[in-house]
Amino acid sequence: MSPAISFAVLSSFVAYATYAAFVNGFYYVKPYISPFYSPCLATVCGGDSHQRIQGANGVPHLGVFGPWWAISPAILILIFPLGFRMTCYYYRRAYYRAFWLSPPACAVAEPHKKYSGETRFPLIMQNIHRYFFYFGLIFNAILTYDAVAAFVESRSPAYGGGHVGLGSFVLLINACLLWAYSLSCHSCRHIVGGRLKHFSKHPLRFKFWGFVTKLNAKHMQLAWASLIFVALTDVYVRLAAAGWLGHGRWI
Ligand code: FES
Repeated sequence: MSPAISFAVLSSFVAYATYAAFVNGFYYVKPYISPFYSPCLATVCGGDSHQRIQGANGVPHLGVFGPWWAISPAILILIFPLGFRMTCYYYRRAYYRAFWLSPPACAVAEPHKKYSGETRFPLIMQNIHRYFFYFGLIFNAILTYDAVAAFVESRSPAYGGGHVGLGSFVLLINACLLWAYSLSCHSCRHIVGGRLKHFSKHPLRFKFWGFVTKLNAKHMQLAWASLIFVALTDVYVRLAAAGWLGHGRWI
């Protein structure tokens, strides 16, 4: 992707995510929760919305942010997925080129006089990518739970029963894309297949490494697809919560 397009898409995403995080509202409409606000840390998370998170089905209560908190819980949550993306090997290449022109492309001279790469602070911090990867897996599991819960809840008699809303599919596609993006991560590939002298004694790891390697070849595409879709998922929930999509049972 060209630096100009990377610049436009990344800037748009950061602007939208900042707006969505600070709004601190319209992030839940039964049975959907925005991925930017999940897990919901607010005690006032959409009225009865978090009965399921607050213990109705055995899931631990997570609500720590009451209405007395001035900041949005999304700001705390987004640190982890954003940290994961900002330290991603692919995004690093994309935003170094798009925002800093350092360098703007392969075989183009570095425009800055000094170049220390990622060997000094603050860029040496990029090396914590692997730890953000682990946190990312936890968030993927939570968002998968949200998608499954949306399917289960929308079919329950208490909710009208017998149908599945479009939002359940939106949440499911979002979770699948995030899993695909995470599993295609270069760190993931090293975790499953690295530090081995030979694969013959580790057939399971070899299989998983082969699977991850195929995904890894599509890492760039998965990075953009999952980034754009997670924002679209938030837009969907936001519009539904604001009543813009109507109140039909298929929403
Ligand atoms: Fe992109 Fe790890 S290298 S998510």
